[in-house]
Amino acid sequence: MPQDWRAGLAGLDLSRDSYVTVLTGAGVSAESGVPTFRGEDGLWKTYRPEDLATPQAFAADPALVWEWYDWRRGIIAGREPNPAHYAITDLENIFERFLLITQNVDGLHRRAGTRNLVELHGYIFGVRCVAEGTTMENLEVPLASIPPHCDCGALLRPDIVWFGEALPEGAILKAMEASRASDLMLVVGTSGVVYPAASLPVLAKEAGAFVLEINPDPTPITPLADVTVRGKAGDVLPEVVVAIRSFTS
Ligand code: OAD
Repeated sequence: MPQDWRAGLAGLDLSRDSYVTVLTGAGVSAESGVPTFRGEDGLWKTYRPEDLATPQAFAADPALVWEWYDWRRGIIAGREPNPAHYAITDLENIFERFLLITQNVDGLHRRAGTRNLVELHGYIFGVRCVAEGTTMENLEVPLASIPPHCDCGALLRPDIVWFGEALPEGAILKAMEASRASDLMLVVGTSGVVYPAASLPVLAKEAGAFVLEINPDPTPITPLADVTVRGKAGDVLPEVVVAIRSFTS
């Protein structure tokens, strides 16, 4: 296997018709100032997911759960996409077949202009009526009332996938199909420990894709990646995308 990432990409024979996928995690937004989950200052170092990110936690204390999401919404609303988010949009513009699969709920990929994307774990500015199941965008920061309610009188919940919940079927099926069809998959800023997202690079690799990981630290995905670029996404990804463009006929 080529260890040098440029040599690896150069050998791929990419064309505009190649299928390119990108799987992102919290690390891609770290340089925007959005906290990750498992790093030194990660959210799960200070908070327990079972207290805040489960259906049981919401049933027990919806106001507490909403306070936490309101705080996170406030952080995210004040942040901007970074060069890594924009590089992914540039990558999308090279290829006719492209899908971004993100575990992030911050909406920064949308704001950077990426169009073909699946938000596997939901969207933090989305709200869902617990009675009717209807979803809508709510950009209010901070929320005027906690917990918020739907016009029908029922509680609204964050439109997020919590621990113990299934991913939206359409989203995971689309992500799996794209992973299996990939010629090239970039895996950026994810610890690779949360399933089923973490299984997508395995699907891609098994189907013959070239897997390129970008992460400052090793992850469980590193051994299966064809190459790993060690570094911060905002520094490295723009350079990787320029190289991909130069190797695409
Ligand atoms: P984690 O916080 O688990 O992992 C972040 C990864 O990003 C780590 O591997 C870091 O080494 C890497 N990283 C940090 N800074 C980086 C940078 N500047 N550039 C590139 N990489 C960097 O976040 P996720 O893998 O996204 O789920 O976590 C997966 C899921 O676990 C989340 O979607 C969330 C969480 O519980 C739900 O809330 C359902």
